[in-house]
Amino acid sequence: EKGGWSSFMAKEISEEPEAVAKTILGRVDDRGTVTIPELDGLDELFLDIDRIVVIACGTASYAGAVGKYAIEKWAKVPVDVELSHEFRYREPVITPRTLVISISQSGETMDTLMAVKFARESGARTVSICNTQGATIPRESDAVVYTHAGPEVAVASTKAFVAQITALYLLALHVARVRGALSAEVIAEQAAELQAIPDKIAAVLENNDTIEQLAHWMADTRAVLFLGRHVGFPIAMEGALKLKELAYIHAEGFAAGELKHGPIALIEPGQPVFVVVPSPRGAQTIHSKVVSNIEEIRARGARIIAIAEEGDVAVLPSADEVIRIPLAGPLFEPLLSVVPLQVFAMALASAKGLDVDQPRNLAKSVTVE
Ligand code: BG6
Repeated sequence: EKGGWSSFMAKEISEEPEAVAKTILGRVDDRGTVTIPELDGLDELFLDIDRIVVIACGTASYAGAVGKYAIEKWAKVPVDVELSHEFRYREPVITPRTLVISISQSGETMDTLMAVKFARESGARTVSICNTQGATIPRESDAVVYTHAGPEVAVASTKAFVAQITALYLLALHVARVRGALSAEVIAEQAAELQAIPDKIAAVLENNDTIEQLAHWMADTRAVLFLGRHVGFPIAMEGALKLKELAYIHAEGFAAGELKHGPIALIEPGQPVFVVVPSPRGAQTIHSKVVSNIEEIRARGARIIAIAEEGDVAVLPSADEVIRIPLAGPLFEPLLSVVPLQVFAMALASAKGLDVDQPRNLAKSVTVE
């Protein structure tokens, strides 16, 4: 039931802190050791693999794209992220040392199910990340790591997305421990960062006024661009997808570094551009490069809405609006920066009088290929 909320989506976004907290529950102990009980007995497999392929569709694929940064950094295993329907219809190199991780909220998406079956038949080992107990994809996989976001009713995914990133991060830390790729101390530090996320998401959700107002002002907008770099890149893609799905607005996400290689030609006076700004406390060069991108598009008249960490003053001179997110480790920013983008798409769709729970032409789980 919707409770007092205007839509299932509004309710589900409000449940994001809980979705992350419940996904962590029982997987991090008092000493900060990360152990996913469902992966018990797979140590040999994790020691043996030389490559991970993540397969998914839609929002789940962007969760996978965020997860790649964490798996490579922590577990030190190379990761490719592929759309399920593209993976299956070519001749991917799969060996018994390939681990295929599928991500699906419903666990029923036919494109992903067929890709998992194909991967198994080709000799890969398979782990699924799924939000629905007993769904088909986990049944077809060697192991499953459930996200505990609770039932997601709105067609476009929100709380499942943050739960999927959480599950991928836990998986990355689990594999890093098994492979000895990180010290127990570093694993505990990262686990503590993850455990701090629910309260930080709650803080972001308390500051929704600016983004909701912005959505109302922008109800007539015809095109919106999203830029991000590093883990902010898949978040820019997800922000654009949400706006397409919910508000039927032409939206595109780009890697900020790619701007000069094409997309900057799209910038004309008044063009709204959301920029997911990496923390200045992380890689300095990435932060300053994104700030330069903001200056470049500002000079061409773009209207800039920056999603930036508290206290990042470098964005102030060029951004028209700044949406603040609490401080978090660089890899954890996506769990915070995606929230205002979800709220923006939902508020803009509502301002247009659209049904945010049931967008036209879309279905919650697509059971045809
Ligand atoms: C699409 C939904 O059809 O399927 C998206 O509209 C979703 O919201 C995608 O991200 C993948 O779904 P699932 O259940 O496999 O995560």
